[in-house]
Amino acid sequence: MRVDVVTIFPDYLAPLQLSLVGKAREAGLIDVAVHDLREWATDRHRTVDDTPYGGGAGMVMKPDVWGAALDTITVKPGEGKGAADARPHLVVPTPAGEPFTQARAAELSADSWLIFACGRYEGIDARVVADARTRMRVSELSIGDYVLNGGEVAALVMIEAIVRLIPGVIGNPESLAEESHGPDGLLEYPVYTKPPSWRGQDVPEILLSGHHAKVARWRRDEALRLTARRRPDLLARLGDDALDARDREV
Ligand code: ADE
Repeated sequence: MRVDVVTIFPDYLAPLQLSLVGKAREAGLIDVAVHDLREWATDRHRTVDDTPYGGGAGMVMKPDVWGAALDTITVKPGEGKGAADARPHLVVPTPAGEPFTQARAAELSADSWLIFACGRYEGIDARVVADARTRMRVSELSIGDYVLNGGEVAALVMIEAIVRLIPGVIGNPESLAEESHGPDGLLEYPVYTKPPSWRGQDVPEILLSGHHAKVARWRRDEALRLTARRRPDLLARLGDDALDARDREV
C-alpha cells in the first residue's frame, strides 16, 4: 500500500517512523510519503488560507493550493510516480465526516493507495473535495465526536488502525480475531498474566484450570457483560443470530 499525507505540519507525522507502522515501512509492506502543502503555495509568504466568503471567524484553506498538491501527487502512471495499478482513495479527516470505524479501517486496508488531506483552520474550500470526486474515490471521515485542531492526529489514528490490518503487518493474525470491535462485535474480555496473585487480587480461578471450553465460555460471558455495561449501543447493533440462548442468560 502507498500512503501519501498532505499537511502544513509534516513534523506532526513523525510517529509514522515508529513502532508497527515504521516496521511495516521497513518491511516494504507500505510506502509512506509526507508532503508539505506549502510546496504548492505560489506567493512569497507561501499562503495556504484566506478569509471565508460569507464572513465569519477563522480562515479557509485555498482550493488552488490543494488542487495543485493533489494533481502533482496523483500524476498518471508514466507521467510520474503513481504506481501503475493503483487507484488513489482520498481520505479527508474532518469532524463533519462519517464515523471512522473498525469496518471502515478494514475496507481501507484493502486499498492500494490512500491519500490523507489534513485540513487546518476552518477546513478546506468545499470545491476541493467536489473536484477530487470527479477523478477518485473520496471519504470524509471523523474519528470521534470532538474537535481537534487539524486532521493530522486523526490521520495518524486512521493510518495505524488501517495498517495493522494489512496481511503480514501483525505477527500473529489470530490476535486480530479476539480484540475489541473484532468479528464478534463485542468489547474484549479482561486479560491477566503472571503472577497469579498481585496486591491482594487473584487471577480468576477458571483461567488457571486449563479447561479450554470453560475458559472460552468465561471470556464470552465477560465480553458480553462488559459490552452491555459500557457500550449498550454495540449490543443493540448485533444481528439477531449473534447471541444464542446461553448468551442471553448473562
Ligand atoms: N479534524 C478535527 N477534528 C477531527 C475529528 N474529530 N476527526 C477527524 N478529523 C478531525
